Amino acid sequence: MKTLEVQIPGYEYIIHIGTQILDEQLPLAIQRFGTELIVVVTNTTIHALYPFHIEKCLESTGLQLETCILPDGEQYKNLETLNQIYDFLLQKGANRKTLIIAFGGGVIGDMTGFAAATFMRGIPYLQVPTTLLADVDSSIGGKTAVNHLLGKNTIGAFKQPVYVCMELNFLKTLAKRELVAGFFELVKHGIIYDAKLFKFLKEHQEVLETLDFAILEEAIHASCRIKANVVEQDEKEQGLRATLNFGHTLGHFIETHTNYTSYLHGEAVGAGMAFATFASYELGFLSETAYQDIISFLETLVPAIQLAPLDYSLFKELILHDKKANQQSVHFILIKDIGQCFIHKNTSPELIWELFQKFIEKHPWACQMAT
Ligand code: NAD
Ligand code: GLY
Repeated sequence: MKTLEVQIPGYEYIIHIGTQILDEQLPLAIQRFGTELIVVVTNTTIHALYPFHIEKCLESTGLQLETCILPDGEQYKNLETLNQIYDFLLQKGANRKTLIIAFGGGVIGDMTGFAAATFMRGIPYLQVPTTLLADVDSSIGGKTAVNHLLGKNTIGAFKQPVYVCMELNFLKTLAKRELVAGFFELVKHGIIYDAKLFKFLKEHQEVLETLDFAILEEAIHASCRIKANVVEQDEKEQGLRATLNFGHTLGHFIETHTNYTSYLHGEAVGAGMAFATFASYELGFLSETAYQDIISFLETLVPAIQLAPLDYSLFKELILHDKKANQQSVHFILIKDIGQCFIHKNTSPELIWELFQKFIEKHPWACQMAT
């Protein structure tokens, strides 16, 4: 088992990563919080695969345990479903000392975290992530949110968990496509901050087939260290944290242009990372060798993204609609080398469009546009 501490003043917490760790670590963690009622929030899929798994782990604590089961899917990550959590908490007599456990992927984690941030002005929650994406990205760092019809993750809060337990055994039942989507976020952390991690992932790509937990534990630990380090310096995304959005300029565009129906977030970010790498090279920041190194790796992972026809005005509108856009320009995350990223501030949508057209011509394996 590996342990990592996230040190945000006033919100320090521990992350455990390993296999067969939940049964022992979860009851120990619970003891620290002096709660009487624990509410587990999960979804129908996870509940069917792992019925009352958390509850069984915590049986010996003698605490009151309740289970709130939500429908599965990004389409339910909204205020209506959030209300189901509030209703459940109130029906079960929850108070400020109640502890909520998010048991699931990023959707459950984001919704549960937001419920914890807002219920009675804030109660503690902890994360038991069950997807690779939640392990390496969403379960740490404290971004919580639900979607609004007019925008993804637009209603949310920063709320750090009190503990995160990454039991890797849950990954055994995860669909391969979901695994690859999470893998992109691991690769992202390597490309932007850690050349050694990037090399490690390149050399152990077979882990997506073998699910070798020793390899995964090491990679997830390195990746979480990177994210924790960034979040410790810039929890509320005033500057540095934006670098974690590497690949998101085009990634977000792909998701909105395809109405969030065709590609997983990680897949869109995968193509977006290829684009940002290409842009870094084209603009003269990145060497040919590093460019080829990254592109040849991503090419083996990215599903060819198919986009409906579009022109500059639609491209501009969608690019600038990203929450991370700054009025008429974009803070585009680029790289100078593998492991060295920077914010290319105030990048014009015209320049991004120009680069995008060259990109799809040169790398149709990443993204194609119908004419
Ligand atoms: P998800 O939570 O929808 O999970 C993907 C699918 O896998 C779901 O159908 C889920 O029920 C199923 N599943 C989960 N664990 C499983 C398991 N062990 N075995 C079998 N099936 C399992 O998707 P995700 O990729 O985990 O998370 C995506 C969400 O995370 C998005 O809403 C995104 O906005 C959010 N996100 C948040 C942050 C953050 O910092 N808070 C960062 C990145 C992404
Ligand atoms: N997923 C990027 C962040 O947490 O900031």
